[in-house]
This record gives sequence, C-alpha cells and structure tokens, in this order.
Amino acid sequence: MTPLTGGRDGGNSYFPQYESTNMHTDAQGNVLTTESAEAAALFSQAITDFMDYRTTPSARLKEALEKDPDFALAACFRGCFLMMLENRKILPRVRETVDTLRKQANSLTRRERLHIDALGAWADLDILEACRTWEELLTIAPHDILAMKLHHTMAFYTGRSQVLRSVIEGALHAWDETVPGYSAVQGMYAYALEECGAYDEAEKWGRDAVASNPNDLWAIHAVGHVLDMQRRYEEGADWLNFSAEDWSDRNPFKAHLWWHCALFHLGMGDPDRALNMHDDLLRSINSDSYVDVSNQASLLKRLEMQGMDVSTRWELLADHSATRIDDHILTFRDAHFCLALAAAGRTETVRDQLASMVAFAKDNDGWTAEATASTLIPLCDGIVAYESGDYKATCDILWPMRNDLAPVGGSHTQRDLFRQILEDAAVKGSCTELARTLFSERLAQVPGDATYQAKYVALGA
Ligand SMILES: [Fe+2]
Repeated sequence: MTPLTGGRDGGNSYFPQYESTNMHTDAQGNVLTTESAEAAALFSQAITDFMDYRTTPSARLKEALEKDPDFALAACFRGCFLMMLENRKILPRVRETVDTLRKQANSLTRRERLHIDALGAWADLDILEACRTWEELLTIAPHDILAMKLHHTMAFYTGRSQVLRSVIEGALHAWDETVPGYSAVQGMYAYALEECGAYDEAEKWGRDAVASNPNDLWAIHAVGHVLDMQRRYEEGADWLNFSAEDWSDRNPFKAHLWWHCALFHLGMGDPDRALNMHDDLLRSINSDSYVDVSNQASLLKRLEMQGMDVSTRWELLADHSATRIDDHILTFRDAHFCLALAAAGRTETVRDQLASMVAFAKDNDGWTAEATASTLIPLCDGIVAYESGDYKATCDILWPMRNDLAPVGGSHTQRDLFRQILEDAAVKGSCTELARTLFSERLAQVPGDATYQAKYVALGA
C-alpha cells in the first residue's frame, strides 16, 4: 500500500497543540481528530482498557464510532483489534478499512496518518514496516502509548529483544509519573529488559508498575518472566496466583499468565497441579472465535515430556489448528499449530501445512516469509520428526538451530520448549554425547539446577 501523503500539519506534538486549538485529546494529550468530546473520551478509555487487557475496548470503540462515524483513529484502532485476532480471514476487511481511512488523510494529523500507515503495513503482513512506522510515530509523539503498545506487541513476534528495549528507551524522555499511563510504559520496559537479560532492572521496573497499577497484566507478566528466568518457582506461583473470578473482566491474555503459573508448578515438581490449571483455566476460555493453541500446546508438550498422559487433550487443539494451516500470519502461531497437529497424529494435515508454508515462503517477501523459510519450516520439520519418533532426525535438525530460534517470535520462555524437545530427543534417541552437551549448557546457565543435574547424571557421563 502507498503511504499517506498530504494532510495538515500538527500531528507531531500533543500538549502544545491542544492548548492552541479546541480539538480533543486522549489521556496522554495526543490530539484526536474528532469534534465529539464523548467519542474522544470513549477512545481514550479504550486505550486505558486495552493496556489493562480488559474485555471492553472493542465495545468502547464501537460506541465512539457511533458518536462520530468519521473518527479515523477510532476506526484504525478497531482495525488493529481485528489484526490481533491473527486470522487471515479478516485481512480483506482491515485493508478495506485502511483504504477508507486514507481518503480522510487531508483532515488528519501526521500522527494519525502514521497510525493508518502502520495498520496498512500490518494488514499487508509487513510486520517490520508496521514496526518501523510506529517507531517513526513515536519520535514525533512519544506520549502515544497506543503506538508504543502496538509496536511492543508486534516486535515481540519478531523475536527482536533489543528493539523492544530501545524503542521504549527512546520515548522515556517524555515520560514520568505525571503522565497518565506511565505505569504501562514501566511494564513494557520491564518486559523488554527481561528479554534482554537485565533481570534486576526488569524486576524493579515491573514491580514499580504493578505498585502503581495492580490491574496491569503486562507488568505482572514481566515480573513473572523474571521469576521464571531466575528459577524462582515458588515466588512465581505466588505472584501469579489469580483465580478466574479475579480476572473475569480480562481478555484471553489472562490464560498466558495462568500458563506461566502452570510452568511454575511444573518447576516445583507438581505436574498434576499444572494439568489441572490447563483443564480448569487455560482450556475453559476457549470460544468459537478463540482457541489459544500456543499456551495449551506448549503446556501439554511439557507435561508429556514429564511422562503425563494428556493425549485426548490434543484433539481440540488439532481441530482448531487444522483450520489455520494456511494462515501464515505469525510464525509463532504456525509453529504451535504444527505442534498440535503433529502431537495429535494428524500426519496428512501437518504435511499439508508444511507444503503451505513452503509455498508461502516462496511466493512472498518480507519478514514473515523470510522467517518462515529460515526458521519456521526447519523447526516444524524437527517437531514432526520428534512426534513421529525419529529422535536422531530431530537432533540433526534442531541441534544446529537451537540458538537461532528468535525469528519464530515469542519470549525466551516460550521458545525454550523447542530446546526441551531437542533435549528429550537426544535422550530418547540415545544421542548421549549431544545430550551431555545440552545438559552441560543448561547447568552452566543455571548452576545446581536439580532437574538437569539428575538428567546429566542419568546419562552415566
Ligand atoms: Fe510470557
């Protein structure tokens, strides 16, 4: 899509422009092109609710657009929500929205035009261009917490930890506790620091964020990641001890926090508790439009590798994954669809999915296609080999790429599953030298880890 051109000036500042015009703003002072104060307030509340992972932002945006059908940024934000469904079926609808919004360009600020450009790139599956556009936007409007969050979310799916960190650091000069939403910035920065290995700083920023806003699930999540990386399992299980009632008004991201909590129970040697969390919490939020394959598959596979029988639970995930084999929206999702299909024994379907990935990588340009070719396809080959019991082939495929999995996206904790599959294959395939090397790496990173110490000893090394 062609970037927007033209339009009036003035989207590059927030408070000063607000003071000199009668236009409305969001809570952070960013100018909104709408004549409706009610619509502006609803939009601003939608951003706040979005930051807290509440279920209400879509309804607020709908209401804002009823107050002002020409409210371009509200329509753009609604398009972003559609993209976050991560489903190829919605792309035509989002592209239509972008085309419509571009016709309003002359009446919009530069900041708003950049938001529309970013959504256009996102709908074209050019994630890097979308991220680049949000980054440009943040240079002129560092208080745009929506752009920061969207960038944070999508950069996360490209596995570029340093980008997560630097983009927030570039905007920090404009933020302190006097700006509404500062705690959300603290929470995002905490997560970015954690993914860059700066655990002490990450924990401080994350705990400060939660102290300011206990409703910020992302900040809670960031601290959870620190506790996981430092193997502080009991603290982690306590930190994430929230019930379904506690989070009844939160969107499905809450399942990811329960996933983390289940991993803490696994780390504490209680797989039964982890499986109960899968059955009672993770699985229970499924709906016709939402099945969280990534969290569930990632937990079920870890449980299986600890010797638990979870077999029938793969069926729901495989049923859903079978409908998504041609998606290629996110490499991270595709990897987990493949895992669910392979684990459920859907051999033909997973073969079709891999063929679809190959065709997608061949016929398309950009980050997603390149990451599919370089990382996703060999990773899925390794997963399929593992699920078919060909452990030596699994090792041959996954061993060389074990330190180069970042392009598949997600966090270190999430991608660690694939390393665990390699380790399990090395043991089951009697690849003793490889297993010894892998466990030595683990023990060097986490000296004294009892689980890996036992595995190392069991090799008879
Ligand atoms: Fe996480």
